[in-house]
Amino acid sequence: MKGIILAGGLGTRLYPLTHITNKHLLPVYNQPMIYYPIQTLVEAGINEIMIVTGGPYAGHFLRVLKNGHELGVKHLEYAFQEKEGGIAEALSLCEDFADKQNIVVILGDNCTDANIRPAVQKFKIGSMIFVKLVPDPHRFGVPVFNKKEQIIKIEEKPKDPKSSFAVTGLYIYDKTVFDKIKKVKPSGRGELEITDVNNLYISAGKMKWAELKGFWSDAGTFESLYRTGKFWAEKNE
Ligand code: DAU
Repeated sequence: MKGIILAGGLGTRLYPLTHITNKHLLPVYNQPMIYYPIQTLVEAGINEIMIVTGGPYAGHFLRVLKNGHELGVKHLEYAFQEKEGGIAEALSLCEDFADKQNIVVILGDNCTDANIRPAVQKFKIGSMIFVKLVPDPHRFGVPVFNKKEQIIKIEEKPKDPKSSFAVTGLYIYDKTVFDKIKKVKPSGRGELEITDVNNLYISAGKMKWAELKGFWSDAGTFESLYRTGKFWAEKNE
């Protein structure tokens, strides 16, 4: 399986820090943020990775990651996203790289110590998402469950969340993901939403889910960046 890390966007929620570099290169304790999703993929046995980035500091990735070998990546590719067209738009740039294989996608600001290797090894077809109990579900994609604990839809940043779970930014997709992205229309905020893509899998009955074990957080706000750094500092003590 191949891995994709989405690290575009302008990181405006972290201004003024993101006036200096790309959000995903900011420090989370003792490593640049993007090291964490790379390590998650490498630990899952994935060593062919594409990073999608954009904005004025895209070149900084080469300086930090070079060819990826120091982090255990055998083959590292980069793609440039011209505008902040959304997570699904960033993913659409990886169709040739994916080459009809199954893919693991991680948002570049998602940091976890969970081991997704068993899920990666078991995955055959459709899609798989990972959810996590959070105190602030309205900040995320939120799954709506039926009585059989099946996810019947995902609501993006709902004012009135129907569960206390967040859909994390770790996804496994089969090759049909790129056709699904082509069917999605820009949302109210002008982005191609990954939640709309996931809802297409759900309505086709092709979505599995699991609770992510261990620590998980995004690091795209000051509060979450601080909390994530604190977790890794304490873990490394
Ligand atoms: O962190 C998990 C959440 O991530 C999910 O629960 C939500 O369903 C999902 O929409 C996403 O929500 P955010 O509002 O936190 O996404 P954000 O716009 O912060 O983007 C997250 C990462 O995706 C970002 O670090 C880089 C990448 N990205 C984002 C955009 C908008 C791109 O590569 N290109 C883009 O155009």
